[in-house]
Amino acid sequence: MARILITSALPYINGIKHLGNLVGSQLPADLYARYMRARGHEVMFICATDEHGTPAEIAAAKAGQPVAEYCAEMHNVQAELARGFGLSFDHFGRSSSPRNHALTQHFAERLGDAGLIEPVSEKQVYSHGDGRFLPDRYIEGTCPNCGYERARGDQCENCTKQLTPLELIDPRSAISGATDLEVRETRHLHLRQSKLRDTLDDWIDSQQGWPVLTTSIAKKWLHDGDGLQDRGITRDLDWGVPVQFEGAPWQGMEGKVFYVWFDAPIEYIAATAEWADSEGLDEAAWRRWWRTDEGADDVRYVQFMGKDNVPFHTLSFPATLIGSGEPWKMVDYIKSFNYLNYDGGQFSTSLGRGVFMDQALDILPGDYWRWWLLSHAPENSDAEFTWENFQASVNKDLADVLGNLVSRVTKFCRSKFGEVVPEGGANGPREAQLVENLATRLRAYERHMEAMEVRKSAAELRALWVLGNEYLQEAAPWSTFKTDPDQAAAQIRLSLNLIRLYAVVSQPFIPAASARIMADLGCEDWSWPKDIATSLQVLAPGHAFTVPEVLFAKISDERRAEWEEQFAGGR
Ligand code: MF3
Ligand code: ZN
Repeated sequence: MARILITSALPYINGIKHLGNLVGSQLPADLYARYMRARGHEVMFICATDEHGTPAEIAAAKAGQPVAEYCAEMHNVQAELARGFGLSFDHFGRSSSPRNHALTQHFAERLGDAGLIEPVSEKQVYSHGDGRFLPDRYIEGTCPNCGYERARGDQCENCTKQLTPLELIDPRSAISGATDLEVRETRHLHLRQSKLRDTLDDWIDSQQGWPVLTTSIAKKWLHDGDGLQDRGITRDLDWGVPVQFEGAPWQGMEGKVFYVWFDAPIEYIAATAEWADSEGLDEAAWRRWWRTDEGADDVRYVQFMGKDNVPFHTLSFPATLIGSGEPWKMVDYIKSFNYLNYDGGQFSTSLGRGVFMDQALDILPGDYWRWWLLSHAPENSDAEFTWENFQASVNKDLADVLGNLVSRVTKFCRSKFGEVVPEGGANGPREAQLVENLATRLRAYERHMEAMEVRKSAAELRALWVLGNEYLQEAAPWSTFKTDPDQAAAQIRLSLNLIRLYAVVSQPFIPAASARIMADLGCEDWSWPKDIATSLQVLAPGHAFTVPEVLFAKISDERRAEWEEQFAGGR
């Protein structure tokens, strides 16, 4: 049994996330966490809302609420939606928690003591039109790297380059469009990441088998020098972790808070401490996941995120951890994702384009979305959501292949043998062949799941379901029954057990449907099928069950057209 620490990139607090956000981190992280738990490993699965920064302040102002109140409410909204999608976090924390304040200040102090943080006079953009300093991301202009015209002052969305506002060509205020911007002097803290360049380079080289997407992005920023420029880690905002705290190795930083990207990843650790607090556990309970001197040396740590987050997780956050000089657990594997597009364009939060988590759950249960999103995860390239594809996938995979098998077997059993697992008869060569085929497919499924190959895993799972359908078609118990009821009983007994096996192995993808199947089968034995033949005997003759309601309803052409129309105009 291994110990596996899993974190998903923290969703920003300022609004409800769209399905592209969901499939880029939280959902595949959940898939992996569920699978690893099912295989008997000890899992700590952490997520949280990313609550600081200007976007939170602006969103609160828009909602006419104090920012603390806005964040508390929005956290609950996001937590509720996460439940709707079956996201099985061990803890869903908040980056604004006291734990994160303390830990962020702790890291800053250590980095300061190590000579890695220093106060510098910095030039900052003041907007006359807006009457305020503009945070980086509220300045827009043309990207000097790729020419994209709507690059933000912190990062270009198009080419993922991290930027400073002064690098933008034709800068303007993103709030008002004002162009009467002036550069003024103010004092900020800089993190001297450049001092850690060689250490980080070695660390990245020592990582075995990282995905190409992850390593190439990391190396690019390291060797261009861009990702490791010393960078400001403080901002002129009220909401955030205060920079001037007791024992701080600097003075005169009142009224400033740490930059959101400095404190956010630290919340992975702080949220684990929040988890321990909420469980009434001691410090050692969370530290054994995070401190290599307190047990975390045998933890495997995996992070999930969209590709735009990779530089922060391969360079900035490791710089914080290594720079502290303390033995913090470093990430072992980063699984990063490309983008999901929506019907010929991009999902866009600002334009309200696409399907958002609340809307998705309003029209269909979480499992329908989980299945489509995971089986079409943007792994090796960007992927696209279309309603037609979604409809086809739900109707074929979930309704025709899996749902239909469940319903045919259980209904046939009820009509001929009653709602109990029938006895009598014996398995023959066809069943032996099925067991062998299932074993081959299941081993492939396990390999892909372990390797976090999400699409390939989905394809194998579907192939497992198909084997059951083919078996049922060929065995045809409804005909067998006419000449040899005992043999039909054996076929149905095996099929009922096969349904249980499917519930168990499908659970990481479609947890709610799996739970319903198991409840209707009256079975609580979720043990993973290590040996197929044995696991096809869990439901013994005489075991009672009830025929499940329709597991997955088909999406009609009319509904599809309705939704297509409803979501075309934006939110
Ligand atoms: N909120 C960021 C985003 O959605 C991700 C933060 S990940 C963390 O892009 F590690 F910084 F927390
Ligand atoms: Zn660019």
